Amino acid sequence: MVTPLSIDLRESWRIRDVEIPTRLVLAPMAGVSVQAFRRQGRRYGAGLVCSEMVSVAGIQHRNERTLGYLRVAGDEHPLAIQIFGSEPRVMAEAARMVEAAGADLVDINFGCPVKKVTKTGAGATLLDDPARACAIVEEVANAVDVPVSVKMRRGLRDGARTCLDVGPRLVEVGAATLTLHPRSAQQMYTGTADHSLTAELVSLVDVPVIASGDVTSRARAQAVLATTGAAAVMVGRSAQGNPWVLREIVDGDDREPSREEVVAELLLFVRETVRELGERRATGFLKKFYGWYLGRGRFPKPFKQELVVLDSTAEVERRLLAAAPGALPLLERLENELETGDEVLLDSLPISIYGGG
Ligand SMILES: Cc1cc2nc3c(=O)[nH]c(=O)nc-3n(C[C@H](O)[C@H](O)[C@H](O)COP(=O)(O)O)c2cc1C
Repeated sequence: MVTPLSIDLRESWRIRDVEIPTRLVLAPMAGVSVQAFRRQGRRYGAGLVCSEMVSVAGIQHRNERTLGYLRVAGDEHPLAIQIFGSEPRVMAEAARMVEAAGADLVDINFGCPVKKVTKTGAGATLLDDPARACAIVEEVANAVDVPVSVKMRRGLRDGARTCLDVGPRLVEVGAATLTLHPRSAQQMYTGTADHSLTAELVSLVDVPVIASGDVTSRARAQAVLATTGAAAVMVGRSAQGNPWVLREIVDGDDREPSREEVVAELLLFVRETVRELGERRATGFLKKFYGWYLGRGRFPKPFKQELVVLDSTAEVERRLLAAAPGALPLLERLENELETGDEVLLDSLPISIYGGG
């Protein structure tokens, strides 16, 4: 029996020939996982980052906004781009574009519980249609050279164990790794993730398994790794406005960030997001992040309220710097350290479907 303490999160592992430098993966989150979020995740220790779910119908129709999600920066690798849809042929076509865009992995979403997606036959519903799910994975795996991964829930209804039946079949037809979020679709985000299912899945397949759900600390990450045999843990909600949790999980560095550090990271995030989405779209997109960054007792509550009503990010920046003037040199240092990506301005906004998996 491995004791949690003996687990080194800094160990590298592989999905076929893709080397993942740490055992921490940043979760795909619709309306959250923009490039700025993923690049930040890499800087704080995530070994693999993932785009939010991208509609293959949007890719097929060359929807400009959708194509914006396929933009990959040099310092994001290794990176997975996640697609969702229900038609194997359309999924395979989209996967080719995802590969051409520079993704190191094509990830397939069989986890999204949101009606808007499931009613189209995509997301978690595919767990109840294993033949179609297998056809999708097989066609996608045949269409691309990069490894194909699948992210799924335990099943549709509470108590379901569908993932244990479908998972091994997906591996047989070409999935190079599986991520399991062991809640049912019906559960959405209530209750807890039952990682005993993750352990069962690990015992059934000979590809690496990634454990997703309720990993909020190093202690929890080590316990999940030790008790499941998973290759890596995935972290989602805890990293919203809180990249420091990634550092804590990977390195055990549990220093609370200073107010200046928080503001510097938030401002970098604001600037990068404006560059990525354009000022107009970024203004709305960023509002939820103010609460995420400034909460957790870091700033008084009314401060966030002040920021969310502002309609320009320049004004947000001014107020933040007034509250923490010492953040400016930190921000400048962060910007100097960053690899400069391409400067393409995108008139696009992520599809904000809360809870894509
Ligand atoms: C706002 C939000 C958006 C999400 N979007 C996606 C998505 O696009 N694709 C996906 O596979 N999972 C999505 N998820 C699920 C997460 O990837 C993850 O599996 C889940 O949140 C459990 O992990 P956590 O407890 O660390 O948050 C989303 C979750 C949240 C909270």
